[in-house]
Amino acid sequence: MGTVRTLVPHHVAIVMDGNGRWATKRFLPRIAGHKQGVDSLSRCVRACVERGIGILTVFAFSSENWSRPAEEVSGLMELMVLSLAKEVKSLNANKVRLHFVGNRAQLSEKVQAGLAKAEASTAGNQRLIFNVCFNYGGRWDIAQAAQKLVSRGEAISELSLDRAMALAHVPDPDLLIRTGGELRISNFLLWQAAYSELHFSDKLWPEFDEAALDEAIAVFRARERRFGQTSAQVVAQLSAPDKSQKEKAA
Ligand code: IPE
Ligand code: IPE
Ligand code: MG
Repeated sequence: MGTVRTLVPHHVAIVMDGNGRWATKRFLPRIAGHKQGVDSLSRCVRACVERGIGILTVFAFSSENWSRPAEEVSGLMELMVLSLAKEVKSLNANKVRLHFVGNRAQLSEKVQAGLAKAEASTAGNQRLIFNVCFNYGGRWDIAQAAQKLVSRGEAISELSLDRAMALAHVPDPDLLIRTGGELRISNFLLWQAAYSELHFSDKLWPEFDEAALDEAIAVFRARERRFGQTSAQVVAQLSAPDKSQKEKAA
């Protein structure tokens, strides 16, 4: 399968930014933007399923977002619990399997219980793996992976670290999108985005619709992923007959 060009990226990751600005522009409280952001996310999940994307990973709350006003933080925690209860039915209808990625121990018991329940009730689904990064930071992930290896007495290598990371159940993202117009990673998938194609959209997250997703996919398809090789090598591999397929047929 190595040389087959697929129509859509297998793993899409998104920094869903711009909820607060969306609300402020409309003279609404910031939490109204976050609520609209949940609707945008549920539309995006459906769109990913329809397009045959295998894995969607979104940034919902960062390790650094605790430093926002207490009212916004508690509003986001409450919204998480409410949204889970509301969305689980449609996730199941679309065969979406939910995974939470992040430091759960710092979350309230109520939030932890909500996350565990939603994960358990979607555990049998296989159409789309949906990772929600919540109380997540790329630096936290690298540190917790290293800590895991140390406590098991395992040697640290790229492979062992990779296997101890919070996203070890999926391959690295092919396409990483950030909405909201900022050109930064903000401590998202520091390890896993090493070779992701980056796409920055000026749309605020609540406005990120199917057309915006399709545009990101089209931009991705036009890129040449070289992984350190030369362009000539990549072109040669793409035009060469797939050896493994030929061997299988023989
Ligand atoms: C992203 O939107 C959602 C979270 C960080 C929880 P923001 O809340 O950062 O929106 P802006 O960037 O202030 O517009
Ligand atoms: C990144 O957005 C985190 C999430 C989308 C959850 P932020 O709004 O927190 O990022 P900064 O602070 O602008 O870098
Ligand atoms: Mg922001």
